[in-house]
Amino acid sequence: MDKMKLIIDVDPGIDDSLALLLAGVSPEFELMALTVVSGNIEVNQAARNARFAMKIVGRDDVTIAKGCELPLVRNYVDATDTHGKDGIGEVYYPKEEPIDHGSATTVISRLLRQYPYQITIAALGPLSNLATILKRDAEVLTLAKEIVIMGGSVNVCGNCSPVAEYNFWCDPHAAKIFFDAHLTNVTLVPLDVTYKILLTPNMREMIRQFKTPLAQYVVNITGFYVDFHWAQERTLGCVINDPLVIAYLLDRSILTLKKGHVQIEIEGIAIGESVIEFREKDSSKLSNIAQSVDSKKFFELFLTRVFSEQKDDIQLMIEKGMIL
Ligand code: BDR
Ligand code: CA
Repeated sequence: MDKMKLIIDVDPGIDDSLALLLAGVSPEFELMALTVVSGNIEVNQAARNARFAMKIVGRDDVTIAKGCELPLVRNYVDATDTHGKDGIGEVYYPKEEPIDHGSATTVISRLLRQYPYQITIAALGPLSNLATILKRDAEVLTLAKEIVIMGGSVNVCGNCSPVAEYNFWCDPHAAKIFFDAHLTNVTLVPLDVTYKILLTPNMREMIRQFKTPLAQYVVNITGFYVDFHWAQERTLGCVINDPLVIAYLLDRSILTLKKGHVQIEIEGIAIGESVIEFREKDSSKLSNIAQSVDSKKFFELFLTRVFSEQKDDIQLMIEKGMIL
């Protein structure tokens, strides 16, 4: 079976790091590159965090390229309140710089031209890198096979304002350029579905019991995130948005989709809002919008993939109704 060629555009980030673990251990993917963007944390630290996540799953071979340091227009606001001063929960692992592979935008453009209509892009951070490519050369992103984006909120509150989700709020102009380009085969995975991906205290405790370096890493980086969720919204556990995109690429039955026209607000009180018109008749403007998620399927996949050595224990915990 041909592997799925995948570029992950990413801003690690606690949940981004978990997404990288899932992608790194999944044999279905040929990881072409991780392209990093400033978001949760500025791009240099985000790149170190990306490298650390890949190293811990033995994937130090994967190309990591740094992209935009700042949003296109707006002043940059990181999410260190959510992800910690180092972007991964203030664990301060010793981190090495990734090898310099040139700029993220150049790497993405080169790969798309080299493998036209073969590459899937998973975008898990602000869309600054992809919008920069579109501004430079509107055609090159049309060479992607599929682009799946974590961002936006449709019928639920945003996490940066009542209507705006962080990735779009951080760089709304980039999100607007991206969706106004009306690329084909774009899928949006908004907060409406990612909110349901709650890593519960029971799951986290099970992972802690595994006592491997990988399990320890996951427990360590999620501690700050758990505290943030409690302080912010009295949620026990933490919502892990970004791995849902990777899981969906592995198992399409995890999400249900509906076509809609995505527009992004770039000014005023609703800055960063994703406004979706589900009645749009012009099919060239339509993206797929995730509507519902099978969170049980997600967690079975995520846990048994990332902690494959503990598969039997995970199944036992599921059978006992302890974790799902
Ligand atoms: C998104 O913003 C970031 O904080 C997360 O990594 C995720 O990509 C959720 O709004
Ligand atoms: Ca992210």
